[in-house]
Amino acid sequence: MDGARTFPRDFLWGSATASYQIEGAAAEDGRTPSIWDTYARTPGRVRNGDTGDIATDHYHRWREDVALMADLGLGAYRFSLAWPRIQPTGRGPAVQKGLDFYRRLVDELLAKGIKPVATLYHWDLPQEIEDGGGWPERVTAERFAEYAALAADALGDRVTTWTTLNEPWCSAFLGYGSGVHAPGRTDPVAALRAAHHLNLAHGMAVEALRDRLPTGGQCSVTLNIHHVRPLTDDPADADAVRRIDALANRVFTGPMLQGEYPEDLLKDTATLTDWSFVRDGDLRQINQPLDFLGVNYYTPTLVSEAGSTGSHTSDGHGNSSHSPWPAADKVAFHQPPGDTTAMGWAVDPTGLYDLLRRLASDFPRLPLVITENGAAFDDYAGPDGQVNDPGRIAYLRGHLAAVHQAIADGADVRGYFLWSLLDNFEWAHGYSKRFGTVYVDYPTGTRIPKASARWYSEVARTGVLPGA
Ligand code: FCB
Repeated sequence: MDGARTFPRDFLWGSATASYQIEGAAAEDGRTPSIWDTYARTPGRVRNGDTGDIATDHYHRWREDVALMADLGLGAYRFSLAWPRIQPTGRGPAVQKGLDFYRRLVDELLAKGIKPVATLYHWDLPQEIEDGGGWPERVTAERFAEYAALAADALGDRVTTWTTLNEPWCSAFLGYGSGVHAPGRTDPVAALRAAHHLNLAHGMAVEALRDRLPTGGQCSVTLNIHHVRPLTDDPADADAVRRIDALANRVFTGPMLQGEYPEDLLKDTATLTDWSFVRDGDLRQINQPLDFLGVNYYTPTLVSEAGSTGSHTSDGHGNSSHSPWPAADKVAFHQPPGDTTAMGWAVDPTGLYDLLRRLASDFPRLPLVITENGAAFDDYAGPDGQVNDPGRIAYLRGHLAAVHQAIADGADVRGYFLWSLLDNFEWAHGYSKRFGTVYVDYPTGTRIPKASARWYSEVARTGVLPGA
């Protein structure tokens, strides 16, 4: 039996959501379509034809949702701002009604003692910006910096902790490479160009935020750092790990945290591009000091040299005949061993432990915050109206134990945000995957805290992970 584990006193306990996944009200108060509205309305893109038109109706139920968070004893809430709600065409002045929604939300959070953590971009690019070329074009980074300035001007007095981008890997490589995310393009060069302009957007936005936030304001970015493991100890598999690590992780951490693109990445992709879209001064602008790095982790990635051994499965990022990994045809992806969640993702907390230890060693002075971790299961309300989700509790317990151990072994982890507060629109999976600790009955919008919500509430209130 495992003993109880006590977390540091000021450890931040929260839950996370994202605008398109929960808000709904897609055409209200001046909001215009984002690339996800367009993508979801395109037949065949999203399971069951689901869209975010209504989602969990958080745009109308925000007060109830904040009350729920307060009941659950959460110390912090990570949410994202919808760019097309604030600056509908991606240019020009801000729409006050859009900003008012977030002002009200934040004021309510603060009134309940919940720390707001705002993400500027969780994938809902205004469609007009995509029509002008989207993330593969430099102008999108410039537009993003303007939007960041508008958001900080309006909310910087009450939101002190900001994240520029959520998982730019998905925006670039799933959005423009494999096409399983909006805008659904399948062009490896566009994906690499998008990665660079997302990096640039991050750097420019941090500058805009720093100019506007009061002293003590915190800036960060959230990356879904892939924990990549080799299938065997064959050197060819080690090289597959290196290649995927470059395309998944170092393409962002290199410029953002070290001011350069990794040499091996440039070499690996040289047949596709000479990277001449990187202009003088870009790397300096991207490499901004950050107050912490946001880390999203769900499952490890297992790779080998293609053809070396055994089966060859999807990389866990959806089914497409186009790879999200430019110039990596010689890499095979394998299903990691162990139980899986409803996403088919292997449950493996050691991946989180190893990842945190690696980041602590690669970037020793940079505090870490887990900005997403959680699991989808096929939850349902029983005849008594309760939702029992022991699988999720076991997942959370295992991963929190890994975080605790990583801290004990020297990783500077400051907080943990569970994905997700509510069941929501899970991108290409629509509403078929439930990640919430609170169940949402979509036809009525009714919220039912699952057993995991009560369990997590106790951990968040006490800062103690109970023994198993
Ligand atoms: C992450 C996304 C988040 C959610 C989880 C399951 O990649 O940031 O919006 O969909 O996966």
